[in-house]
Amino acid sequence: MKVLVTRTLPGKALDRLRERGLEVVVHQGLFLPREELLRKVEGAVGLIPTVEDRIDAQVMERAKTLRVIACYSVGVDHVDLEAARARGIRVTHTPEALTAATADLTLALLLAVARRVVEGVDYARQGQWQAWHPELLLGLDLEGLTLGIVGMGRIGQAVAQRAEAFGLRVAYTSRQPKPLPYPRLSLEELLETADIVSLHAPLTPETHRLMNRERLWAMKRGAILLNTARGGLVDTLALVEALEGHLFGAGLDVTDPEPLPPDHPLYRRPNAVITPHMGSAGRRTRERMAEMAVENLLAVLEGREPPNPVV
Ligand code: DGY
Repeated sequence: MKVLVTRTLPGKALDRLRERGLEVVVHQGLFLPREELLRKVEGAVGLIPTVEDRIDAQVMERAKTLRVIACYSVGVDHVDLEAARARGIRVTHTPEALTAATADLTLALLLAVARRVVEGVDYARQGQWQAWHPELLLGLDLEGLTLGIVGMGRIGQAVAQRAEAFGLRVAYTSRQPKPLPYPRLSLEELLETADIVSLHAPLTPETHRLMNRERLWAMKRGAILLNTARGGLVDTLALVEALEGHLFGAGLDVTDPEPLPPDHPLYRRPNAVITPHMGSAGRRTRERMAEMAVENLLAVLEGREPPNPVV
């Protein structure tokens, strides 16, 4: 029985599949071209895809024997869940494993933007550092500012906890109220009051371009936007405009399009700090994600309920 893994994974989790006598086909490249995915998935009973593999009805049609799609991610917006449901294919994901790592990177981006860390590094590297000056590279002091969290799930809550250590006040918006010591606001109220807006909502048809031009301009003048969730939550070109004067800056680990092409105007904004979708890129985190994906996959193939089901 064949399992297709669309990238090499850190750690030894895949050995468990081999020990069970499964044939494990691991794609070795940096990305998996669509045609190759369609070819390689034929005959597979299990699939471990990454966030960059679009697993739609066409893929499922080619994989007639497929029983489980064990996503190597918490987000599942790259999988057509309805198509999977209609074919009786189970879909699983890896929540919890990457909560802390993603929250850490969110704070890293916040500090980088607020304190102009990347500009400072470039300034020093480029040989411009000639003297200490009281007005050089002035940024935002975080203490006392309000962080508005959009989507208060696991990662949003982990960001809130970390933010408190920096003296930030926290408010949030989410569909359901949570038993948390922070005020829950409407999105509009949050945008009006927050000095920093951090996105932690899943990408769905309802949240696509949630931060459109109007909402970006409804943010406070001089505010910061953070996105470590999904690029599709933000209208990228509208953000480029908002960064020219309205916003203080943006910290983005995800973009739309993704990857962001090298000539994209966003790279020309010195107040945009962009990282290549590396929120979960802690070695231990990525190994844990592999273990969870393997456990989910084996559970389905062995007729058990997977620990982290989506469908
Ligand atoms: C996820 O898990 O959804 C991240 O975007 C990648 O780790």
